[in-house]
Amino acid sequence: MAMRKERIEALKRKKNAIILAHNYQRAEVQDIAEFVGDSLELARIAMDTTADLIIFCGVDFMAETAAILNPHKKVIIPDVCAICPMAQQLPQEVLRAAKSEHPDAEVVLYVNTLAESKALADCICTSANAQEIVRAMDAPTILFGPDRNLAYHAQKGTSKTIIPVPEHGNCPSHHQITLEDLQEAKDAHPNARIMVHPECIPEVQDRADYIASTSGMVKICKAVEDEEFLIGTEIGLLHRLEKEAPGNKFYPLSNTAVCPQMKMITLEKIEAALEHEQPEVVIPPGIMEKARKPIERMLALSV
Ligand code: 13P
Ligand code: SF4
Repeated sequence: MAMRKERIEALKRKKNAIILAHNYQRAEVQDIAEFVGDSLELARIAMDTTADLIIFCGVDFMAETAAILNPHKKVIIPDVCAICPMAQQLPQEVLRAAKSEHPDAEVVLYVNTLAESKALADCICTSANAQEIVRAMDAPTILFGPDRNLAYHAQKGTSKTIIPVPEHGNCPSHHQITLEDLQEAKDAHPNARIMVHPECIPEVQDRADYIASTSGMVKICKAVEDEEFLIGTEIGLLHRLEKEAPGNKFYPLSNTAVCPQMKMITLEKIEAALEHEQPEVVIPPGIMEKARKPIERMLALSV
């Protein structure tokens, strides 16, 4: 492993490459990345970097977002099979049908969507800014997709009518966390504060002390010491929390909250990706231009 890490470092220098990793990546992948973050942070970093090559360790929609924001850079995803199942739940035909049913509504899409659907949106949001973005829209009715649980969270910040598209979109890794899991974890750690991702079901969100994006959770935990937290998100985040907020104790709300697609990226695949500069993320130019507008609008609206 040490040899592989050295080879990766040498390739990064030789090719002026940067490795970006999402908070759910394997520990060893996080540790070799220049930057580890949530979807919003990774989109911003991808836009600011001076690297020629971006190795994106995450799932398809994240790498696509980096590519859309960087038309003149090469964006590589080390495994093309790292496909977010939630993003697949909103193909453009479904969105087109909802738009013709609600012609006056504005469309806010979670960044966890296909590029072809983003191209039809008025604005993109992430888990870190969903409430802020919905509030900033002009229309009183918002088509919001694909995550119905995030729509529930976004609704809390506004009196606008939010229509989820599709009706029951969700992330399988978060949606499976139940109230029973929460109760069991709370019984085992009665002093722990409950922190959950807005992709969790409404009943779980309603019991939480904090609802935050993955990096939002890290920020909250870094600000305190000698606290216990129950973490209601993908368990990969625990690595970063333990590393960056070591004065606290962290327990997963559910041990089965694992995103198999996030775990597909390995050091071996990263080395191959750097070496061969593929698989490159390629988006048809027509879609790329249209999808960039709502992403840039989000970046401009979000502080
Ligand atoms: P964050 O933007 O909060 O990291 O969430 C991304 C994601 O895919 C959660 O499942
Ligand atoms: Fe998609 Fe859920 Fe995995 Fe996030 S955790 S990438 S929403 S499947």
